[in-house]
Amino acid sequence: MGKLVLSPPGLLALLALPVLIFAAIARWAPRGSATPQLEFANVFPIPTLEALFFTLAGCVVVMFGLSLRRMLTAWNRGGRHGEILSELLPAFRAVATHERFTKCRQGRSKYFGHLLAFWGFAGLALTGTAVGVGTMLGVMRTPLPLASPFKLFANLCAVVILVGTTILLVDRLRDCEKLRHSTYFDWFFVLTLAGVAFTGVLSELLRLGQIAPAMYGMYFVHLVLIFALLAYAPYSKFAHLLYRTVAVAYSNGTGTGGTGQGDFRKERG
Ligand code: HEM
Repeated sequence: MGKLVLSPPGLLALLALPVLIFAAIARWAPRGSATPQLEFANVFPIPTLEALFFTLAGCVVVMFGLSLRRMLTAWNRGGRHGEILSELLPAFRAVATHERFTKCRQGRSKYFGHLLAFWGFAGLALTGTAVGVGTMLGVMRTPLPLASPFKLFANLCAVVILVGTTILLVDRLRDCEKLRHSTYFDWFFVLTLAGVAFTGVLSELLRLGQIAPAMYGMYFVHLVLIFALLAYAPYSKFAHLLYRTVAVAYSNGTGTGGTGQGDFRKERG
């Protein structure tokens, strides 16, 4: 999987899997009775998507756990054993506030882009999980009304994430030096994230306009990209969110000083 995520030709295989899965769901998943208003659930039934995404999220957590264990074992083999658990919260605070970015010579735009993309994604992931659990328990029904606090918050997060990813993309395109050093690995993550947010907003707008079949097509792309973002998270740049937090905690816990990526890379040799 890691090799596929790293190679541009692998992208076809990576996208083919969710394309087939969601095409099969649209074709064969059991559906409820049609609603007076057009809804995504008429083509992509909610219980099927919930079962798929919760299972996928579980698998991703297990893969992250295994990778982290492997990473820590490798570092400990280097002879340093430190306190990680007590350092996790301060490390998370440092990563979440992006405090080191403020000291970075490369400018404020990268700081704001990262901060907005990070918090926009966190907000959407949290709201999405809450609404998913709410519908499973039968206390919520999607699509939520536009005035629902969950919907208002999700739409606010959508704007935040779109602004953040746009800043990151423009920043990279404008800076020739950065552009030269950007790898496929960097692009894959930020473009998938921007694509998820963009297709989510378009899906919502098309649904509000009751424009079919375009709304179903857009939602299909949204689902394919979400699948790619989540399933390939442990192997894509997405993973730096977790690995970097643990790396900072480890760096502090072993007393190697600093919270910088640079320090840590040196540490790994
Ligand atoms: C990776 C996490 C996800 C991100 C970043 C994301 C992003 C977005 C965004 C920005 C929107 C537009 C604003 C809104 O209505 O919230 C949206 C809409 C939507 N998303 Fe996602 N999404 C994610 C996961 C999911 C999942 C797992 C599902 C379903 C299984 C889903 C289903 C939908 C639906 C149905 C809409 C349209 C809402 C409407 O018509 O009002 N999203 N998404």
